Amino acid sequence: MAYRLRLGVLVSGRGSNLEAILGAIAAGRLAAEVRLVVSDRADAPAVVRARAAGVPVCLLDPGSQRARLDARAETALLEVLREHEVELIVLAGFMRILSDHVLDAHAGAIINIHPSLLPAFPGLDAQGQALEHGVKVAGCTVHFVDPGAVDGGAIIAQRVVPVLRGDTRDRLAERILGVEHELLVEVLGWFAARRVTREGRQVWVADRNLGGEPGSGIQAAGRPRGNSR
Ligand code: GRF
Repeated sequence: MAYRLRLGVLVSGRGSNLEAILGAIAAGRLAAEVRLVVSDRADAPAVVRARAAGVPVCLLDPGSQRARLDARAETALLEVLREHEVELIVLAGFMRILSDHVLDAHAGAIINIHPSLLPAFPGLDAQGQALEHGVKVAGCTVHFVDPGAVDGGAIIAQRVVPVLRGDTRDRLAERILGVEHELLVEVLGWFAARRVTREGRQVWVADRNLGGEPGSGIQAAGRPRGNSR
C-alpha cells in the first residue's frame, strides 16, 4: 500500500478542521490517515465527528489546570501517540498549551492552525482582536508548535482574507474558517510528500520529496534544526 502520513489530531471543540482533513482523505486529496483523535473534552462536537468517521478517539482527563494538561495527562498523551505510531501531531482547535516535555518528544512534528496572520493577534479570539484593531486584511496561519511564546512557532504558511465594511466578529471568523480548511489540508499534503524544510524560523516548501520524517526535511538536507527558544 502507498505511504500515508500518520496523523494524530488534537481537538477541544467544533472539529471543522478535523472534518476538512477527514474529507480530503476520503476524497483521495490527501495521502494521510488520521490514526487518532485526542480530545480534552468528552462533549466536544469534534469527538462525534471523529467517531462518525470511524477514527479512534482518546478522551484525556486534562486535570485541574485551566490552560494546560497536568503531568499525568501528558504522560497518557505521549503513550497514546506512540501506541498509534503518530508521525505528525495537528492541533486543530486544541485549547491547551503543551509543555516543553511534549514538544521536545515530538520536536518538529507538531503543527497548529491559528485564525490570524501571526505574529499579529496570538491567543484567544484572534478574529475579535483583528476586528477590534481595525486591520484591513485578516487570515490564518499554520505554524510549528515550538517551545516559547504561545502561537509563536515558525510559520509554515498563511492565507489572507479581506476585512469588509460591516463585518461582525462571526462573519469575519467564518470567512477565515473557509480558508483555514483549505490551507491546513494543503500544508498536510506538503508534509505527506516530505516537502517541508526548515532553517531556524524559515520554513520552505521544496518542489520535491526530501525524505526523512515530518518536519525533518531540514535534517535530511544536512542543515541545523532550529526552534524558537
Ligand atoms: C479554528 O479557528 C482554529 O484556527 C483555532 O480554533 C478553531 C478550531 O475550529 N485554533 P474547529 O474546531 O476546527 O472547527
